[in-house]
Amino acid sequence: MNIFFVYSCISILAITNVVAQNSTVNIPIVTADIAVLLRANTNGDISVIYIGKRLQNDADYASMPNFDGDGDYSGLYSSAYTTSGTRNLLEPAIQVVHADGNPSLELKYVRYQQNRTDPQTNITLTTIYLKDPIYPFDVTLNYKAYYDTNVIEQWSTIQHSETGVVVLQKYCSANLYFASAHNYYLTHFHGDWAQEMRPVEIPLTPGIKVLDTKLGTRADMFQPPSFIISFNQPINFDDDDQGEILAGNLAWTGNYQIQFEIDPVRNLRLLAGINPYASEYYLAAGKEFVTPSFLFTYSAHGLGTVSRNWHRWARKHRIPLGENTRMTLLNNWETTYFDFNETALTSLMKIGKNLGVDLFLLDDGWFGNKYPRDNDYQGLGDWQENVKKLPHGISYLTDAAQTLGIKFGIWIEPEMVNPKSELYENHLDWVIRQPNRPEYYFRNQLPLDLSNPDVQEFVFNTVDGLFTKHPLLSYIKWDCNAVIYNAYSSSNPHQSHLYIDYVRGLYSIMSRLRTKYPTTPMMLCSGGGSRVDYGALQYFTEFWPSDNTDGLERVFIQWSYTFFYPSIALCNHVTNWGKQPLKFRTDIAMMGKLGYDMALSKLNTSDFIFSQQALQIYSRLKDTIWHGDIYRLVSPYVTGNDVASLIYVNETQSHAVWFTYLVNYRYQAGTVRSIRLKGLDPNKKYQLQEVNNYPSTDESIVIGPVTLSGDYLMKFGFNPKANADRTSIIIELQSTS
Ligand code: DGJ
Repeated sequence: MNIFFVYSCISILAITNVVAQNSTVNIPIVTADIAVLLRANTNGDISVIYIGKRLQNDADYASMPNFDGDGDYSGLYSSAYTTSGTRNLLEPAIQVVHADGNPSLELKYVRYQQNRTDPQTNITLTTIYLKDPIYPFDVTLNYKAYYDTNVIEQWSTIQHSETGVVVLQKYCSANLYFASAHNYYLTHFHGDWAQEMRPVEIPLTPGIKVLDTKLGTRADMFQPPSFIISFNQPINFDDDDQGEILAGNLAWTGNYQIQFEIDPVRNLRLLAGINPYASEYYLAAGKEFVTPSFLFTYSAHGLGTVSRNWHRWARKHRIPLGENTRMTLLNNWETTYFDFNETALTSLMKIGKNLGVDLFLLDDGWFGNKYPRDNDYQGLGDWQENVKKLPHGISYLTDAAQTLGIKFGIWIEPEMVNPKSELYENHLDWVIRQPNRPEYYFRNQLPLDLSNPDVQEFVFNTVDGLFTKHPLLSYIKWDCNAVIYNAYSSSNPHQSHLYIDYVRGLYSIMSRLRTKYPTTPMMLCSGGGSRVDYGALQYFTEFWPSDNTDGLERVFIQWSYTFFYPSIALCNHVTNWGKQPLKFRTDIAMMGKLGYDMALSKLNTSDFIFSQQALQIYSRLKDTIWHGDIYRLVSPYVTGNDVASLIYVNETQSHAVWFTYLVNYRYQAGTVRSIRLKGLDPNKKYQLQEVNNYPSTDESIVIGPVTLSGDYLMKFGFNPKANADRTSIIIELQSTS
């Protein structure tokens, strides 16, 4: 291996601007705990030299050798943005055909710039300018380092001034290189409706592993754009504090592709971006193509730190109102489905008020007149109140809610249309469908062509119209129940732009709505949770993780989501799915944003009283659950574990909420010994008190009050006594010193 110790320009000053003068340029991008070192060599090739723990002394980055070891025939394996058509032999990050038909590209370093964009939150933006030495074609690599939360956001900007159009065939957001481990283990997730976020871990072997989606709208129904890499050894899911872990998320609510390539020298190349499948992009001179962001965080202290990094970052920098509050709600969907009227809804609202929720959410079925939305075969797209079900309109309901003292929210699925609708009859050209082939439906519906500005206007006006007409409207549940079949736009000049322009259209609508309604909570839903990513979560305050609300299933689904998303964003509703006791289903829903979607009138008195009390207890616990740090203690995914156990600890470590759920129902399954807690202050004493017990619970088996030190609880632990009679336990910890 050729080791360089060369002249280096290193700077982490607030603003730096360096021009290469045939010298090596080191560009460290750092957060509190992470460093990425990029280096431009004397040939102008830019490489990723290091991704890992931040070094104590910034000057030491210059000593890191290049990866130009034996077997790299191209000198490009570690490229920070691998081009194609010249000497590259591996998977490219960018592939283009120039205006003159030439398919080659080289990108040489020009200069870089580092700006501290936000001195308060310590966000530093590093911009690296690259250009082709032959063609007037430029790429800018952007890296935003969120110092305090240890997240790095990366995207690329592509532009040219060639005479004519350049065809972009591949245009990644990120191209990372890892050369620090012997082995790499990938945990990715798969699923389908009601089976979201099932993890699977594999060792990465030479060749390419691809995660992708081609569904168009519901990007992650089969495979979410979130993953975890463990360096050297598989993840120890039973010890969240161990291991060198990197987790990534592509912030794109559409077709994506993430490739993991173990190269011939056994290093890991990671390429992430929009899926190039059926998506050649025709870029005119002077126009910019900006890729979506790829986000990642890393820790040498295990998956627990990685998750807490995501959560803090998301609350602070990504999710609207992330550090704010949320509303508990009652949804009518699983009580009424499409069959309701004003009287039924107002009586549900009254029960909701009596229960103690903050908001009533009216779901699907309130619209359509020529084709009333009485089932999912018709009416979608006709957003006028159904006069039979709601003769006095939505205002009657918002007023009724106001009189009762609760808020009112509404379901909408504005990206979609049923063929049996007036919208379809009047605007066939707005529908994504092949003009000369039979239509093919997903849940009896078709997506609208959001790449068409007229459709964007229609969708914006539909939602804006609801808010304008009903100023008391306080919440939106935005659903998306179909994928894109027969991808074809009747207005887009480039069919291969459709998948990309669909998502851009969606973001443009959402961004207009967010600007106009900055404080309105909006739930991202997609026939379950198959749509969430950190692109969509720029606009939505929360998301629906799955239609599967079976308590036991939910332990697993929610657990997986905690790897990436904070609990304030997870809508968990108590429903009639599953055979678990009401307490179990309530306790699992409390591990996020609690809501109800069940026929409350059918609850017996003690179930109703229990639920009322649960909401009161939740209002005391929710601040710590929503804004605290999560520590996963016992994983339900590890074979042999009878429980799932996790704790949320508030910032001052004065309050914590500890959940334990039984996940094995075999003979004598339960917790036979202590579980060691985490995240507490060893020097504080905590009073432990079991809460949210069912009214008839024998007080003698309820845990607490008992006072123990944080030191004791973290070193020796405590047994929450989960067993077949106590299938879920919530213990509240309050510091007494
Ligand atoms: C799918 C959602 O996941 C459900 O909660 C409900 O809103 C239905 N759509 C309504 O059609």
